[in-house]
Amino acid sequence: MGAGMQDFAAVERGRYLTSAADCGSCHTIPGSDHPFSGGRPIETPFGVLVAPNITPDRETGIGAWSDEEFDAAVRSGRRRDGKRLYPAMPFPYFARMTSEDVKDIRAYLSTIDPVRNPVTVNHLPFPLNQRMAMAVWDELYFTPGIFKDEPSKSKQWNRGAYLVQGPGHCGACHTPKTFLGGDESSKPLQGYTLQGWVAPDITSGQGPLAQWSRDAVAQYLKTGHNQFAAAAGLMGEVVELSTSRLTDDDVKAMATYLKDVSGPKPTADSSADAKVLTAGGAIYQDLCSACHKSDGTGVPNLIPDLTHAATVNTGDPTTVLRVILQGAQSVATDREPTGPAMPAFGWQLNDEQVSAVASYVRNHWGKAQREPTEASRSRHEVHQSEPEQDAKPK
Ligand code: HEC
Ligand code: HEC
Ligand code: HEC
Repeated sequence: MGAGMQDFAAVERGRYLTSAADCGSCHTIPGSDHPFSGGRPIETPFGVLVAPNITPDRETGIGAWSDEEFDAAVRSGRRRDGKRLYPAMPFPYFARMTSEDVKDIRAYLSTIDPVRNPVTVNHLPFPLNQRMAMAVWDELYFTPGIFKDEPSKSKQWNRGAYLVQGPGHCGACHTPKTFLGGDESSKPLQGYTLQGWVAPDITSGQGPLAQWSRDAVAQYLKTGHNQFAAAAGLMGEVVELSTSRLTDDDVKAMATYLKDVSGPKPTADSSADAKVLTAGGAIYQDLCSACHKSDGTGVPNLIPDLTHAATVNTGDPTTVLRVILQGAQSVATDREPTGPAMPAFGWQLNDEQVSAVASYVRNHWGKAQREPTEASRSRHEVHQSEPEQDAKPK
């Protein structure tokens, strides 16, 4: 009876850590009814790997593995046959967890339905398909060792640091990488572009978080949006499957830690960049989100989904600027005689504000369009009613 209660506590703790570590995202095909059964292709700088089946199926999953073998995979990047895992499996971060943590994750995974699903993991070209090469990688980029509390910091800070550096593996996307795909350890969380997505600098240096309060960071992690931004794409998935499932105390702890991670001092240019995006995000939430939704997805058949709009995704900002300045009226059809309209904002926003909201939309949902978006020329071209007044520099 006592043992049963203990098992239950371990399984619950393991379930929580499995969310914190987002094991399900890579090890499940999105939308599949068979969580953890593998098969999702993971893009890496070198090519595609397919995440294996980690359900308790004895033949095609990890049902027959010992706890030690499981621990070696999760914290040391070793396969059952002793060969090395590719770091697409974020073991360099998971190494910060304790053996107890990993045992509890295993206890939880043992309670899910076993699924028979053989997966061929390795689709990399030669010589990257030689796992031996990973010995060099491990030597360069893998530092074993559990998370150690920083005694000069608060309990809350340390909890946040553990979650961010360990199970949360936030650096896997947010830390710049070397040409071999290893973390640039001197630049933690300073931003990286992967799979066409910008994972921004999330230090309190020059990135957007410099302007966010701790509560705004916590709100973003818990709900996927705040007054500055809404999570899309890869981060939307992280929020949905992982951070939104954490307790309020834990997201606050992560926010406390992130607000204390120092980054590069803003240079005149880069801080202007981050400030523009922050300002643009605030304008968006204020003026645009009522129709396009704070996550940009709009309303089917009525309001366009900006996360998939070609105008947002092209390198040329002209159309986005024109739509914001002039508004747009969709073509009325028989079935829908009054096509919904996009109001003009040219009379309400100055050039700087139009540029900012256009930059926000294009950076956020247009995948890595980093170049500034200049409104003044476009305003001239669309012949606003009061061009002189509007074009006046601030
Ligand atoms: C970012 C994607 C990603 C996340 C998150 C992730 N994994 Fe993996 N995992 C992989 C990939 C890809 C492989 C295969 C790597 C290889 O074979 O070199 C793998 C391999 C494994 C293996 C080895 C399985 C085998 O058959 O060799 C285990 C066990 C495992 N993961 C468990 C976990 C657990 C537990 C978590 C959460 C704590 C987790 N993974 C989170 C991508 C991920
Ligand atoms: C799989 C890659 C990935 C992982 C893992 C990841 N992020 Fe992100 N993150 C992104 C991307 C991409 C964006 C930009 C999202 C967008 O444009 O909507 C982002 C955006 C953010 C933002 C908002 C920044 C802004 O200016 O809008 C915060 C805060 C953040 N991430 C924190 C975290 C934390 C904390 C973790 C770890 C728990 C984490 N991320 C893990 C990819 C990732
Ligand atoms: C009252 C609702 C409403 C508001 C507020 C609104 N929009 Fe729109 N938006 C629309 C509609 C409806 C369309 C489609 C018009 C059409 O069919 O041409 C649209 C189209 C767009 C497009 C073009 C999308 C495509 O598919 O090519 C962009 C970009 C855009 N809006 C950005 C914004 C921005 C930025 C703001 C805030 C400054 C904003 N919208 C505010 C309703 C709105």
